[in-house]
Amino acid sequence: MRLPALTSTAAYQALATHAHDARDWQMRQLFQKDAGRFPRMTVDAAGLFLDYSKNRADAETMQLLVHLARTRGVAEQRDAMFAGEKINVTERRSVLHTALRMPRGKELKVDGQDVNADVHAVLDRIKVFTDKVRNGGWLGHTGKPITDVVNIGIGGSDLGPKMAVLALRSFCHPRLKMHFVSNVDGHDMDAVLGQVNPETTLFIVASKTFTTAETMLNAQTARSWFLGRAREADLPRHFVAVSTNTDAVRSFGIDPENMFPFWDWVGGRYSVWSAIGLSVALAVGFGYFQAMLEGAHAMDEHFREAPLEANMPVLLALVGFWNREFLGASSLSIAPYHQDLSRFPAYLQQLDMESNGKRVTKTGQPVDTATCPVVWGECGTNAQHAYFQLLHQGTDPTPIDFIAALRATHDLPGHHDALLANCFAQSEAFMKGKTEEEVRAELKGAGLSAAEIEEMVPHKTFPGNRPSNMILMDQLTPATLGALIALYEHKTFVQGVIWNIASFDQWGVELGKVLAKKIQSELVGKVDPESHDSSTNGLIVMAKAAQIE
Ligand code: F6P
Repeated sequence: MRLPALTSTAAYQALATHAHDARDWQMRQLFQKDAGRFPRMTVDAAGLFLDYSKNRADAETMQLLVHLARTRGVAEQRDAMFAGEKINVTERRSVLHTALRMPRGKELKVDGQDVNADVHAVLDRIKVFTDKVRNGGWLGHTGKPITDVVNIGIGGSDLGPKMAVLALRSFCHPRLKMHFVSNVDGHDMDAVLGQVNPETTLFIVASKTFTTAETMLNAQTARSWFLGRAREADLPRHFVAVSTNTDAVRSFGIDPENMFPFWDWVGGRYSVWSAIGLSVALAVGFGYFQAMLEGAHAMDEHFREAPLEANMPVLLALVGFWNREFLGASSLSIAPYHQDLSRFPAYLQQLDMESNGKRVTKTGQPVDTATCPVVWGECGTNAQHAYFQLLHQGTDPTPIDFIAALRATHDLPGHHDALLANCFAQSEAFMKGKTEEEVRAELKGAGLSAAEIEEMVPHKTFPGNRPSNMILMDQLTPATLGALIALYEHKTFVQGVIWNIASFDQWGVELGKVLAKKIQSELVGKVDPESHDSSTNGLIVMAKAAQIE
């Protein structure tokens, strides 16, 4: 479907007019004049609760946004995705990460292939393998059970599993220590190899393509390290692969018997649900891995069935769009008030920015609005003591997604109330701010002179009116984590549909890869390069000189 340019649509123009009228709105007043704001601007789904009432939006804003979603074809595109249509237009592929969490027996055929049967056949293999490793039945080459698992992968083959293993720390196997090596920087691999024993370590080489330079070099390094301490015949007990590329896995020296496959319709950044989640299943056990899939599936069902105006991923996407487009918010800060979600912002960076960091539409025209904001963040309360100053009193409005669990998964007294108090206080402070009058009254109460008060008022005033969302769950469990990830996957999808961009490709990562290959050979070549700009030539010469010294 060829969509008209976004800004030319009546739905967009109605929003633009409304945004003009709303430019001076104060959230404090929106709350004061509308007692029903909280119940109306909250939604429950799949074990998650979203409060989007602390945005500079009212009922009419939401109606106009939902109308925009409708006219951009969000429901039709969503249904096309779930049905396996080739909505990844530039790679001509289906986009079926949702099929990875479909219960057994649900009918879904793509190009005549029974996707559900394929998915569950691999899940069955994952169960058998992970049970064996976890119960000590899978032995290393000297007959000892596995104690350490090293996942070697990058991007989607690292960020999702690493984030999930950390998030589900409380559910992890007590014996198995999980490690993740992603960076081509040898310091990453070196740090891990220094900690593990070749007799009891299992390496997972995780790469959809099995051609990614970083992963291949890290895998070769791990293989050489292992072969320096064991025999070639011992490799199968210590190296398994996760990939879509059987030939490359075989050429690397891993028997396809020890390979867990997935399919080209799983995007890298959407692959934690596939065999790429092998490290997660090893860490938490197949039962909890399945619970994570079920949590995501519950969010899928909600996304498919709930009307757009009560649909959590759609609403999260729409307020994000509103903030990006009409408040000029060029970044989005993610603040998990849960230490176990410390890698969640990094995970979302790839999910959102690799998906929607695009500047042309699906049909190749330049977009006529801004697209994906920069996504960044850190756990609360640490973030409060680092950069919240800028969020409260800096010049750019930066929306924040707060994420918290009502109940902790530890039993240390006092901590969780303190954590939640900070989380809720920050969301209140961003919304309300502190007026000049309030500051004056406070300083007067503290006994400052009139002159001192006037000197301090500008510094101590908080503008407030800064948007945020609050996402709550009862506890961080495999199921709620699954739902949370799926929520953001679908949010990203919806925004991509509104912008009419190709959310499922990532051509923007290719140029650097090609140039790096050339420079890598120049770094070890005899002749100094002249083909680059003077800066790049100069840097290469410097690095060569440093290596010779
Ligand atoms: O370079 C980007 C990318 O293609 C990501 O999209 C992907 O998640 C990552 O590299 C890793 O790719 P692979 O799993 O094929 O090694």
